[in-house]
Amino acid sequence: MKKTSEMYRGKTKTVYFTDNPNLLILEFRNEISALDGKHIETFERKGLINNNFNYLIMKKLMKSGIPTHMEQLLSDNQSLVKKLTMIPIECIIRNRAAGSLINRLGIIEGVLLNPPIFDIFLKNDLQHDPMINESYCETFGWVSKENLSNMKQLTYKANKILNNIFDNAGLILVDFKLEFGLFNGQVILGDEFSPDSSRLWDKKTKYKLDKDRFRYGLNNLIKSYEEVANRIGVFI
Ligand code: ATP
Ligand code: TYD
Repeated sequence: MKKTSEMYRGKTKTVYFTDNPNLLILEFRNEISALDGKHIETFERKGLINNNFNYLIMKKLMKSGIPTHMEQLLSDNQSLVKKLTMIPIECIIRNRAAGSLINRLGIIEGVLLNPPIFDIFLKNDLQHDPMINESYCETFGWVSKENLSNMKQLTYKANKILNNIFDNAGLILVDFKLEFGLFNGQVILGDEFSPDSSRLWDKKTKYKLDKDRFRYGLNNLIKSYEEVANRIGVFI
C-alpha cells in the first residue's frame, strides 16, 4: 500500500488517497481549531497523541462489535482507514451538561443527563454546523431513516463502551461526537474519537482534560491530552 495524492485537507487532519481505491490515509496534524476554524493554533505532539488515542479507541469499539474504518496504525501521526462515503451528520451524546447545551438551555455545567441526550448537527461550515433533527434528514435527504436509526443505535452503544473505559480510568465522559460513513452500503464509524471531539473530566476534581482547555484559553492542553491517553493505556 502506497500513499498517493492528497484528497482533502481539513482543519486538523489531511486525507490522502492510496494505491488501493478502498483505503485512505488519515494524517493527524498538530493544529487545533475552534470558532468555526477562525481560531487555529499548533501544539507539538498533538497529532501523535490523537492518532494513537483514536487508534486505541477504534480498536476497543471494534472488539465490542462496532464496525469502524480503522485498518492499521501506520506511523506516529498516520492511520490507514477504509474509504467511506461520509454522511454529513455529527452524532453527539451528552452524559452531562456542557458546551452548547448549557448556552442554549441555561442549565448548570456538569448536571447529569439521564437518559443521555442524543443530538445531531449538520456538517456544513458555511452554515456553522447547525443543530437539526431526524425530520430534517428525511425532508432534505441527508441520510436515510434506516441509516440514521443505525447511527443513533451505534452511538448509544459506543457510549456504553466508552463510559466503561473512561470510568475505569477515573474519568467522566461528559459528551462526544461521532461521524459515520458508508462502505458497501453498510454504516461504519469513521473520522476520530479523541479529546478534540469529546469532553473528559477527572472524576474527583472535575478538571477538564479536553479541547475545552483551548476553547476557554486554559493552560496545559497537551499535558491534559497526555494524561487521558496515559490513563487509558494508549502508550503501553
Ligand atoms: P470538522 O473539523 O468540522 O470535522 P474538517 O473537514 O475540517 O471538519 P478534519 O478532521 O480536519 O475535519 O478532516 C478530516 C475529514 O476526513 C473530515 O471531513 C471527515 O469527515 C473525513 N473522513 C474521516 N474519516 C474518513 C473516511 N474513513 N473516509 C472518508 N473521509 C473520512
Ligand atoms: P457541543 O457542546 O454541542 O458544541 P461545542 O463543543 O462547540 O460547544 O459539542 C458536544 C461535543 O461534541 C463536544 O465534546 C465537542 C463535540 N463536537 C465536535 O467535536 N465537533 C462539532 O462540530 C460539534 C458540534 C461538537
